[in-house]
Amino acid sequence: MDFFSTDQYFDQLYPPAISALASRHWTPIGVAKEAAAFLAVGPNPRILDIGSGVGKFCIIGANNHSNAVFTGIEQRESLTQIAQSVAKQLSLNNTSFLTGNFTEIDFTQFHHFYFYNAFYENLIDNDSIDQTVKYSPELFNLYNRKLYKQLKNLPAGTRIATFHSSENEMPNSYQVVGVGLNEDLKFWVKV
Ligand SMILES: C[S@@+](CC[C@H](N)C(=O)[O-])C[C@H]1O[C@@H](n2cnc3c(N)ncnc32)[C@H](O)[C@@H]1O
Repeated sequence: MDFFSTDQYFDQLYPPAISALASRHWTPIGVAKEAAAFLAVGPNPRILDIGSGVGKFCIIGANNHSNAVFTGIEQRESLTQIAQSVAKQLSLNNTSFLTGNFTEIDFTQFHHFYFYNAFYENLIDNDSIDQTVKYSPELFNLYNRKLYKQLKNLPAGTRIATFHSSENEMPNSYQVVGVGLNEDLKFWVKV
């Protein structure tokens, strides 16, 4: 089976309870491929997925772009463990996953970024991944402000692909340079 051909196949790499969350929480395979192609530019790009979940974006990117390194930062340790296990099963050595809050990460270690509206779970009452973390509108605002500050300090030429972004987190210095086949995917470059 070619796991990378459809979401139906890819999501079988995960335990059933995790694949059941895919349509709501994990990046569709076509979006991941398009976003990774936009970000994996230059000789040896280092790409960070901000809120990497079970690693779907990073794993698809790493499989398609052997010149690039994809790192995920994820607050839920159980999801990081699943991401690591799937990357190992697929023998991908250009992707890795960290457990922690993105606020602890030094963004200057990376060239380009992927962001699938990770903070939105703070605004919804149902349909959340699980109840192991705190949710609140205050956290949504705090994380948006922190991300905004991190992005603002990055050099010109930095690329970000956002999926379902509220765009509050994007400083004015980033310009939209394209939109994906799925119009919720946007490509940004810092000027
Ligand atoms: C919509 S999912 C996207 C997962 C993955 N990027 C993908 O595209 O398949 C967002 C993820 O961000 C994580 N997340 C939310 N806030 C976070 C934070 N402050 N630091 C790290 N991870 C966070 C959530 O736990 C969730 O797994």
